Amino acid sequence: MSVQIPRGTQDILPGKVEYWQFVEQKAREICRAFNYQEIRTPMFEHTELFQRGVGETTDIVQKEMYTFQDRGERSLTLRPEGTAAVGRSYVTHKMFGSPTQPTKLFYIGPMFRYERPQAGRFRQFVQFGIEALGVNDPSIDAEVLALLMTFYQSLGLKKIKLVVNSLGDTESRQAHREALVNHFSPRIEEFCSDCQNRLYKNPLRILDCKKDRDHELMATSPSILEYLNDYSKEYFETVQQYLTDLNIEYVVDPTLVRGLDYYNHTAFELMSEAEGFGAITTLCGGGRYNGLIQEIGGPETPGIGFALSIERLLAALEAEGVELPVETGVDCYVVTLGDAAKAKSVSIVNTLRQAGFVAEKDYQDKKVKGQFKAADRLQAKYVVVLGDDELAKNIVNVKNMSLGTQEEVALDQLVAYLQKQS
Ligand code: HAM
Repeated sequence: MSVQIPRGTQDILPGKVEYWQFVEQKAREICRAFNYQEIRTPMFEHTELFQRGVGETTDIVQKEMYTFQDRGERSLTLRPEGTAAVGRSYVTHKMFGSPTQPTKLFYIGPMFRYERPQAGRFRQFVQFGIEALGVNDPSIDAEVLALLMTFYQSLGLKKIKLVVNSLGDTESRQAHREALVNHFSPRIEEFCSDCQNRLYKNPLRILDCKKDRDHELMATSPSILEYLNDYSKEYFETVQQYLTDLNIEYVVDPTLVRGLDYYNHTAFELMSEAEGFGAITTLCGGGRYNGLIQEIGGPETPGIGFALSIERLLAALEAEGVELPVETGVDCYVVTLGDAAKAKSVSIVNTLRQAGFVAEKDYQDKKVKGQFKAADRLQAKYVVVLGDDELAKNIVNVKNMSLGTQEEVALDQLVAYLQKQS
């Protein structure tokens, strides 16, 4: 039996990979405009980083991490997300010491979670994420959301909904936490064992439980927005004012809590509202995490960011019927007839490629008809025809495949001729 691909992973083959390249390129361009710089961190980190950063009581840490011991008996984990890793790097390289703050970073790379695979949920998936560290100001929260919306809209997505909430500061969360404990504790035995464990450790996590989602106490649970202190309330109102100034449409959902522990103040998710998108509609998630850097051993540093997976983004584009303008064809295909012409085609394609054209030739001794068929299959814009007779006269025939016209061109003028056409 042949070896199978691991569950929850996928090969991205030519024909599809161009879409990945296109959206990744778009992400890079938009990050450049917003002045976010790329960071690349290792695929694995010390397990402790995610336990402390993402949170012991989260599903990610409790159930979904790919954790292993290396030969030196260290516990390592394939990164399930990028924020804790970027935070670790920020501390390792003392980026907090840089005079220009915030430190604005982005990343594109694979993440790993041992989840139950289904449409839109993979065990290896690629996240594009940004993190702005070092500044606590509502304008940065709005900027992060503006970058996010610019990215989706530039790709042509329309059926999307931005949902925002505030989880407040430590004081507000403490008050909310007590209210949650009081709300759930009388009937906690009706909840799953995970929730029972979470009640005193981290009751906010109960609101994110997939098993107990439909319990009647969920719908009536105390809303964080009622427990925001003045500072948190004002912070959230200012963020919303900026969003309005930037013409960013959003809805406030006080039940949005996110699945990771490091959030406070602004939290948000972006949903697809495209018909037939499937059960999992969250395209992107993010928020502010003012305690994370300290939690992982750095100085007190505020931060905010988001991450989205390319897999879900491409699925949303497909569900909305958006065609990305990717190019897969070649500019010129060199068709030869005769041995001398065949030998010469090696240097002709090379010259064309050096000049920046996507050029291809036959490698299988195909007949002229077969070579034309191959040119068609590759959607060649031009076919350069060279026989031994033409070669003797140092000329080629260039056929424009969309117009069906043909012109004789001196071999040493081929590049100049094609440059003039494009
Ligand atoms: P998250 O909500 O766990 O947040 O993941 C963010 C996004 O990653 C999701 O909205 C989804 O697009 C994608 N994603 C997550 N799991 C999967 C999966 N199994 N298959 C496919 N896509 C998936 C974070 O990861 C935070 N680090 C986001 C953040 C950045 N917060 C602040 N900065």
